[in-house]
Amino acid sequence: MKGIVLAGGLGTRLHPLTKVTNKHLLPVYDKPMIYYPIQTLVEAGITDILIVTGGNDSGDFLTLLGNGKEFGLEHLNYTYQEGEGGIAEALGLAAYFAAGDPVCVILGDNIIESSIRGAVEDFAKQKRGAKILLKEVSDPERFGVAELEGDRVVRIVEKPKKPVSHYAVTGVYLYDARVFEIIKTLRPSDRGELEITDVNNAYIDRGELTWNELEGWWTDAGTFPSLYRANELVAKKKMS
Ligand code: G1P
Repeated sequence: MKGIVLAGGLGTRLHPLTKVTNKHLLPVYDKPMIYYPIQTLVEAGITDILIVTGGNDSGDFLTLLGNGKEFGLEHLNYTYQEGEGGIAEALGLAAYFAAGDPVCVILGDNIIESSIRGAVEDFAKQKRGAKILLKEVSDPERFGVAELEGDRVVRIVEKPKKPVSHYAVTGVYLYDARVFEIIKTLRPSDRGELEITDVNNAYIDRGELTWNELEGWWTDAGTFPSLYRANELVAKKKMS
């Protein structure tokens, strides 16, 4: 399985912090943000990794990460997303890298306390389709929200005003290689982006989406409150 870290976008919700640097290079306690998702993949046994970046400061990723020696890697792959076409567009740029293999995608601003190894191993057994990781949260309206019938996800709604559950879709996605065909069929949403939620709903329509519950704490870090929370959670863990 190949790993893809999505670290593009302009990070406008964090202006002015992101005026002169990329969001994923900002500090979260004692490390740049992007260290955490890379660590999550490596810990799960995924070592063939592509970083999709963008914006003006993309060269800094190479300076910072090099070939991934700090993570025990021999090599890292990089590609570049122009503009802000959304998570699914960024993922589409990874088709050549996946080259027919299944992928584990992680958003560059998602910070996860525990291992995702169990979910990765479950998905390897699943053979086809997709798997998402859900987490119960108190503010689901900030995320993609899963509508459940029994233990089946029947729909995902992106940032609903009136969420139907407290299950947020976290930024860890496991897909078979058909994801790249699905992305080609997508149309931009109202915010002008290709949405990862539309990809997941396409797998639901095919009856091929499974889910696991993410263990431990989880946070994104793309807004001031969540970036602050990410710092607090990581600091508490390091100091405990
Ligand atoms: C994105 C996805 C959303 C998901 C979230 C997880 O939101 O669109 O479905 O729940 O990441 O961090 P964004 O933070 O890009 O608005």
